[in-house]
Amino acid sequence: MEISKDWQVYITGHSSMVGKNLIPLLESLNYSNILVQSSKSLDLRNQNKVNDFFKKNTPEIVIHLAARVGGILANIKRPSSFIYDNLMMQTNIIHSAHKHGCKKLIFLGSSCIYPKDSPQPMREEYFLSGKLEPTNQAYAIAKIAGIQMCYSYRAQYGDNFISPIPSNLYGYGDHYDDENSHVLAALISKFHKAKVEERDFVTIWGSGSPRREFLFVTDLCEAIIFLLEKYNSSEIINVGSGVDIKIKELASIISKTVGFSGELKFDTSKPDGMMRKLLDVSKIKNLGWKAKTPLVDGIERSYNEFLRR
Ligand SMILES: NC(=O)c1ccc[n+]([C@@H]2O[C@H](COP(=O)([O-])OP(=O)(O)OC[C@H]3O[C@@H](n4cnc5c(N)ncnc54)[C@H](OP(=O)(O)O)[C@@H]3O)[C@@H](O)[C@H]2O)c1
Repeated sequence: MEISKDWQVYITGHSSMVGKNLIPLLESLNYSNILVQSSKSLDLRNQNKVNDFFKKNTPEIVIHLAARVGGILANIKRPSSFIYDNLMMQTNIIHSAHKHGCKKLIFLGSSCIYPKDSPQPMREEYFLSGKLEPTNQAYAIAKIAGIQMCYSYRAQYGDNFISPIPSNLYGYGDHYDDENSHVLAALISKFHKAKVEERDFVTIWGSGSPRREFLFVTDLCEAIIFLLEKYNSSEIINVGSGVDIKIKELASIISKTVGFSGELKFDTSKPDGMMRKLLDVSKIKNLGWKAKTPLVDGIERSYNEFLRR
C-alpha cells in the first residue's frame, strides 16, 4: 500500500519522548497533516471520547505512542496503573481506528514482551514462547494484548495494523526524574548530581554485569517512518541497535561523558533482572534499515540536552 503524505496522521502521545522527536522528522519529510491532542483534552482511557474524536477527525494513519511507561521502580510500585492505563488506551485507539476506516496503524511494543529465558539475541519467533520477567509483567502483558489486537483485526477485517518492537530508548526528551527514568537516563542524572556535589563515589543498582541494548530515539523515529512506508505484515518486527553493553561499561562511558572522577560502586543486594537483553535485528536490516547512532555519540548528545534543560 502506497502511503500518501497528505493523509492525516494522528499521533497519540505527541508529548512523549518518541513523539517529540517523531513529529519534526515527519514534518521535515513533508507529512503535511499531523493531528495531535493532549491527554488533558482527550484521556485515551475514555472509550466514548476516543470514539467521538475519531468520528470528527477520521485520520488515515494512526501512530499510537501514548502509554504509561516507566523504569523498574515505577513498574514494581504501580503494576495496576501499567496494565489498566495501557490496556484501556490501546484498546480504545485500535478499535476506533478500525471502526473509522484507518488505513494504517502503528502500535509500539517493547522488548519486555519476550520471555525472560529467551535465547539471545531475541528473534521475533520467540514471542509467546515462555514466562515473562516478573518485575514488568503488567506492562508486558498489556503490550502483548496490543500486539494480539493488531493481529486479530488484520485476521478478521484485513486492517493494516503493525507492531514494531523497540529496545530500550534514550535521547532527546528523556525522563531524568528518579521514579520514571530508565537506566541510561537515570545514570546520566546520577553521575551529573555526583559531579556537582563533588561526591567520592556513585552506587549503581545490581552487579553491573547484565548486558543491555540501547537505541537512540531519533533512530527509532526513522525506523517508524521506514516501517510506515514499507512494512505491511502482521508479524512483529524488532527495532534495535543490534549491539549490547554491560551496565558496568555503560556506567563508565556515562561517568566519562559527564566528567565525574570518583569511584563506581555496585550494590549487589539489588536485583540484576535478565542477564542479557538484546534484540535480533536481522529482519529489519534485511528490509534495508539499520540504526545509525553509536552509543558514545548518543550519550554525549543526550547529556548536552540534559544540561540545556
Ligand atoms: N521509553 C522506552 O525506552 C520505550 C521502549 C520501548 C517502547 N516504548 C514505547 O514507546 C512509546 C513512547 O514511549 P515514551 O517513553 O516516549 O513515552 P513517555 O515519554 O513516557 O510519554 C507517554 C505519553 O503517553 C501520554 N499518555 C499517558 N497517559 C495518557 C492518557 N491517559 N491519555 C492520553 N495520553 C496519555 C502522555 O501524555 P501527557 O504527557 O499529556 O500525559 C505522553 O505523551 C510507548 O508506547 C512505549 O511503550 C518506549
